[in-house]
Order: sequence, then structure tokens, then C-alpha cells
Amino acid sequence: TAPDITNVCKDSASGFNTATAIRTGKCCPPSLGKKVKKFTFPKEKITRVRWPAHLGTKQQVDKYLKAIAAMRALPDDHPHSFASQAKIHCAYCNGGYTQVDSGFPNIDIQIHNSWLFFPFHRWYLYFYERILGKLINDPTFALPYWNWDDPVGGMTIPDFFLPANSPAYDVYRDARHKPPLLVDLAFDGRERDVSNEVQKQCNLSTVYRDLVRNGTDTKSFFGGEYVAGDAPVANGAKSIGSVEAGTHTAVHRWVGDSTKPNNEDMGNFYSAGYDPLFYVHHSNVDRMWKLWKDLGIKGHKEPKDKDWLDASYVFYDENQDLVRVYNKDCVKIDKLNYDYFVTEGEIAWRKSRP
Ligand code: C2O
Repeated sequence: TAPDITNVCKDSASGFNTATAIRTGKCCPPSLGKKVKKFTFPKEKITRVRWPAHLGTKQQVDKYLKAIAAMRALPDDHPHSFASQAKIHCAYCNGGYTQVDSGFPNIDIQIHNSWLFFPFHRWYLYFYERILGKLINDPTFALPYWNWDDPVGGMTIPDFFLPANSPAYDVYRDARHKPPLLVDLAFDGRERDVSNEVQKQCNLSTVYRDLVRNGTDTKSFFGGEYVAGDAPVANGAKSIGSVEAGTHTAVHRWVGDSTKPNNEDMGNFYSAGYDPLFYVHHSNVDRMWKLWKDLGIKGHKEPKDKDWLDASYVFYDENQDLVRVYNKDCVKIDKLNYDYFVTEGEIAWRKSRP
């Protein structure tokens, strides 16, 4: 149970070198003195269809950039600001909150490296998307996703993240990893230097590995149990789910600036949220959950444990209300009114057994 985030946040992040940090390590959300409310499902009859970034229409891309620009224009202490959204990641990953509401005031909450990974990020994006839509007054607004599993044009950083004058640009990225270079979904810090054809095949096999070969059941896909009273699970632990440990982390490392001591922005929990690419990457990670489920393979089921279903987080919603949300309420994305565009590309890796 995450506590009331505005009340008990520790504004000193841990888990990275604070002396060399480029971003602020102060990660607490602004407090508006509001009470935490119960979450209710959206009532509007609209499905926000998230779209593959490399296939976005001009209108989709323009809307997205306009929304990001509007977010950047807000003062930092606004709960919808670019900085406030980025800090959410830091607070939930770098020791902002303790398990005080579960009776363990001295144990930090860490939503990575365990079965909290998928649901936490799903909720994070849910609010982020609705906030962006609200900023441009568009109730149909849907996030793009970085479709890195599509070999036809999806494996490079999407174009509109690159120009230095784009609202979606971030200066703290690895300067070597720009188009036409394809992302390495198995990146381990070493440059691969292979042909595009080889890299594509390797990437498809890596997606197959994460969704099929290594993600055979609930635990291997979602990650191991992490319940009240457990210390944060360390990076590299065996219990990390297949996608989190695999393609997800590889993309973070590949995008982050390797010349910076903390690999800002994408290469570190505390700073990842400062790169707009983070949310677009996670949109695809969230899509992997849906695709995994839709494979219909026996064993591809969400956790049913009470500890998982009742785990909760607190976010500011698009109306600046504080709401508490539960894992159990994010399992069905149709109730959250969003979905993913269906492309041919996602078929590609299904035939790419390593
Ligand atoms: Cu919260 Cu991709 O990490």
C-alpha cells in the first residue's frame, strides 16, 4: 500500500550518485492539501487507441507534440507539470515512500524488480495520457507507443523525438544511438555492430524470448512476489519478470547517455521520466502485457493473489484530484477506456523462436 504521497514523501532520493546527478533528486509530488479519493472508472464512451509512433499521422503527431509542449509550459510545482510527472517515477523507485500504511514505516517501496512492475506502470501511463489529453482539451487523446517489435520501421527512435527543437526531444540520450541505427533489444552495454538484417532477427527473437520462452507463466512474466514487509527487490534479482528484465531494461540502457555518470535520463530510475521517450517506451511495454495475454497460451494469466490484487498506489488524476488505485482495477484495459492499434508487425516475432 502506497501511503498518501503528498503527506509522507521523503524528498531525498536514493539509488544513484547524488553528487553527480544531472536531474534533481528531489522527487516528491506537490501537495495541494487534498484528501485521497477512491478511483472510479472513466464514464465517457470513448476508447483511446494508442498508436505506433512510426506510423502516426501528422495529426496524431502534432497533437502529441502540442500536449507535451503544454505540459512543459506548466510551472514545476503543478501536479501535471513535466517535472511532477517525471518525479513520480523517482518517488516510487528511489525511496520516496515507505510501507508506513502497511505497518512497516522503515521499509521503502520499490515498484521494480517484482510483480508490481506491470500494474504500476499501467496506472502511471493511464493518468499521464489523460492529463495530456486534458491539457489540449481532447478527450480522445491517446499516447503513441514505440513499436520496437515492428521490423518495418519500428526499431529506430521515432522521428519526432529527435529534432532539438521538438518538445519530445531530450538532450540526455546516447548520441550514438540515433536513426538509422536500430535499437538492440538485448543491449547489455556493448555495441553490437551487426547488419540491420541480423539486428532485426535478433530483436524479434528477443521479443519472442520475453513473451513466450521465458514468460511461460504468471510468475515468470510478471515477476516474483513482493508484499508488505519485504525490502525493495534489488536490480538483477532472479524474481524479475521476463519483459522487465529483458527488452524493457535493454531499451532503457540503450537510450540513456552512457557518458553521464548516472546514465541519464533513460538509464536510471530517478531520471527516466524526464525523457518523453520513457512513456512511449512504456506504452509498448504495457502493450506487451496485452499481447502476452492475447496469445491465449495456458499459463498466460494475471496474478490472483490477494496481495497483488490489493496492492495500491496514489496518483494525481487529470482533475488534480488525488486517487488511490489498485492492481485489480487495471487488469481489464477496456474498463480504462484505452486500447492498442493492431499492426501487422506484432505477428513478426511470433515466428521468431530463438
Ligand atoms: Cu519504471 Cu522502465 O521503468
